[in-house]
Amino acid sequence: GQLESLRPRNLNEYIGQDQVKENLRVFITAAKMRREALDHVLLYGPPGLGKTTLAGIIAHELGVQMHTTSGPAIERPGDLAAILTNLSEGDVLFIDEIHRLSRVVEEILYPAMEDYALDFIIGKGPSARSIRLDLPPFTLIGATTRAGLLSSPLRDRFGVVGHLEYYSQEDLCRIVRRAAQILQVPLEPEGAEEIARRSRGTPRVAGRLLKRVRDFAQVDGHGKIDREVAAAALERIQVDSAGLDALDHRLLLTMIDHFGGGPVGLETLSATLGEEPDTIEDVYEPYLLQIGFIQRTPRGRVVTERACAHLGRCLAGGPAGKG
Ligand code: ADE
Repeated sequence: GQLESLRPRNLNEYIGQDQVKENLRVFITAAKMRREALDHVLLYGPPGLGKTTLAGIIAHELGVQMHTTSGPAIERPGDLAAILTNLSEGDVLFIDEIHRLSRVVEEILYPAMEDYALDFIIGKGPSARSIRLDLPPFTLIGATTRAGLLSSPLRDRFGVVGHLEYYSQEDLCRIVRRAAQILQVPLEPEGAEEIARRSRGTPRVAGRLLKRVRDFAQVDGHGKIDREVAAAALERIQVDSAGLDALDHRLLLTMIDHFGGGPVGLETLSATLGEEPDTIEDVYEPYLLQIGFIQRTPRGRVVTERACAHLGRCLAGGPAGKG
């Protein structure tokens, strides 16, 4: 689809994450020179920063096939065995949300990663024996939001660990302009800046906002995206000047109005908002923490002075945290 074609296919097209990118370039080149499978790679960071895109690029740069699955999709050891025995030499196996693998499935993965082997137990009791099936050398690429979610035996089996960070305004701007070029949307530099500024450091968000702004520019405007058109369109879809959406606002205002700015625990917040704790913790909080709108304390989350200033809402007893 359209999103697929927006995705960069090689490292040179991939904007930002320079440290991860340049290190990967070395490891990929070295593996190719030795005609070996690349060591297993763990990519971690907030959603939407390009972990899947980067996995696809690694496979493309290696010149191998990528097989894609996810932690929750692999229910039984047999499911993983089927995938592993279907790999060709040097292939990439991409497992998204790898922290959600069950314990029994994870244990199949250890010998597969370490020795390129599958171990089976045949029979029961005293006559049980173990047989080993060789696998082709392959590269496992695992993606997760936080490295700390993985068990340490699994984490230790990755030779390469890449931490993806929120993109700078400048890099996001380049990503928006590249996407506009592919979509053939006329975009002024100030229009790109406005979209980038409200994209919460996240290319996936930037791509989505660009498409919505394009819709408004086409229907209400003259097709061209300038600062005014972008700002007006983003206000209409409730993305504010800091990139906060309706749920961010609800979260912050709930903390202020119901909990005096905090501290409030994740479970309490989740119940009050009617949102999954995982969604709050993995999708909403990381960016609010990054921009200094909330802080974590041992007793829960607190809203900062900076967030209050942005929302134009003051705390009755003064802010719970410094902005
Ligand atoms: N589209 C999404 N993420 C990107 C990135 N990092 N570089 C270029 N285009 C992208």
